[in-house]
Amino acid sequence: MNALRSVVRLPGSAPGPVGIIAGIRNLQAFQRDILGFLTHLARTYGDFVQFSFGPLTTYFINHPDFIHQVLVEEAAKYYKTRITKAVLRPLLGEGLLISDGALWRQQRKLIQPAFHATRIAAYADTMVAYAERAIADWRAGQVRRIEQEMMSLTLDIVTKTLFGEELTPAEREDIGRAVDIGQAQVGQEFKTLFRMPHWVPTRAQRQRQWALNVVNRVIDRFIARYRQTREDRGDLLTMMLAAVDEGGQMSDAQARDEAFTLIVAGHETTANTLTWTWYLLAQHPQAEATLHAELDAVLGGRPPTLDDLPRLPFTEAVIKETLRLYPAAYVTAREPQEDVHIGPFPVPKGHTVIISPYVTQRDPRWFDAPEQFRPERWLNGLEKRLPKFAYLPFGGGPRVCIGNTFALMEARLILATLAQRFRLQLAPGHQPAVDPLVTLRPKYGMPMLVLDRRA
Ligand code: HEM
Repeated sequence: MNALRSVVRLPGSAPGPVGIIAGIRNLQAFQRDILGFLTHLARTYGDFVQFSFGPLTTYFINHPDFIHQVLVEEAAKYYKTRITKAVLRPLLGEGLLISDGALWRQQRKLIQPAFHATRIAAYADTMVAYAERAIADWRAGQVRRIEQEMMSLTLDIVTKTLFGEELTPAEREDIGRAVDIGQAQVGQEFKTLFRMPHWVPTRAQRQRQWALNVVNRVIDRFIARYRQTREDRGDLLTMMLAAVDEGGQMSDAQARDEAFTLIVAGHETTANTLTWTWYLLAQHPQAEATLHAELDAVLGGRPPTLDDLPRLPFTEAVIKETLRLYPAAYVTAREPQEDVHIGPFPVPKGHTVIISPYVTQRDPRWFDAPEQFRPERWLNGLEKRLPKFAYLPFGGGPRVCIGNTFALMEARLILATLAQRFRLQLAPGHQPAVDPLVTLRPKYGMPMLVLDRRA
């Protein structure tokens, strides 16, 4: 295995800070700065790190071969972790993101057809039309909350394409607030390993219940409409509910959990990616100019279509490079269901194994000048030359992001539509920072000044 070449220490002596004191220190460091802490572990201890995390022993793998082993070769031995499930189940139920085993296999098979390439191709026009609608009232000189604009846009797109429905402005706003609440609370629970029992009537619990009700009400409205009309609109919701009504294959509760998961996972990640893209472009005028030149040459001011995408390699490179530096899913974890070895290192059953696309994708062994935004690095076949799993913004193996192709298409179409009309600059005095909650969000939002490219 290639990994052995670059592991710092030898089999049997998994390196890393372990012990009671280290466990407390690690937990504190994790809470202060998750990304800094994980980067420090990887750069100090190497490709396989064993560390105490509060009372728990945890393993952190940083080599593409180790990641490949866990996500692909031996995927069947691993489940999502108990901590992930405990924290997310109150929101996502038994939805695709956190289910495992036979239930996950059955659900993935049922839902997968909605994401086939031919199906997704039909969504392109909606994505562009909604992007145009979103900027219809943008004017030069305005300062807009770009993180919110991107959230509303991607939320509208996911509800229309997968559920055949339009949200009311109030629903859109409420879901935005609900996702903010969910992110803050779940992010906190992951960080502190502490979860207040949900029956304790705290303010946080009331907020959480409100957030849950908001999303559930919207899903109920969608379901009720289908049940009234029984109209097969060919969308994912119709498909799932038909599977419920035909009996046996999916329960009503399961369809709700899947809908909830897809609404949340299907817009937040892409919105964050686009928000970071605008930020990076604003910081890198040369890359921005190259993007504009490509869009002007290929599209000449008309809206992009699916067929244009192969002729927009720099646009794609900008999205790929953003996903490298700011992968929305910056960390994921697995729990082996039996005693395993990762490379030469033993990992006992039931312990947490962490993978961080954020850390791996900034590793100087795989990327020159890894901290720099250089979209052009993707133009000459880099992806083919990279070791598999040195770049993994969508995870990999059987549990690879089901929305991978959807998201890449959506992000490129939105970027191409908006960047033809507008440039965005950071609002004066605003200092963005990363906020690693469940996904990698911008702390304090991303207020940006709108400039009209045609002026
Ligand atoms: C840039 C946007 C996105 C990023 C970076 C992203 C990232 C990821 C990653 C890394 C995973 C795997 C997590 C793991 O292995 O533990 C995942 C899973 C998943 N994603 Fe995405 N995602 C994005 C967009 C989407 C979209 C648009 C949808 C749906 C419309 C979606 C739905 C899901 C679902 C349902 C899963 C669970 C799949 C399973 O376990 O079978 N994601 N995503």
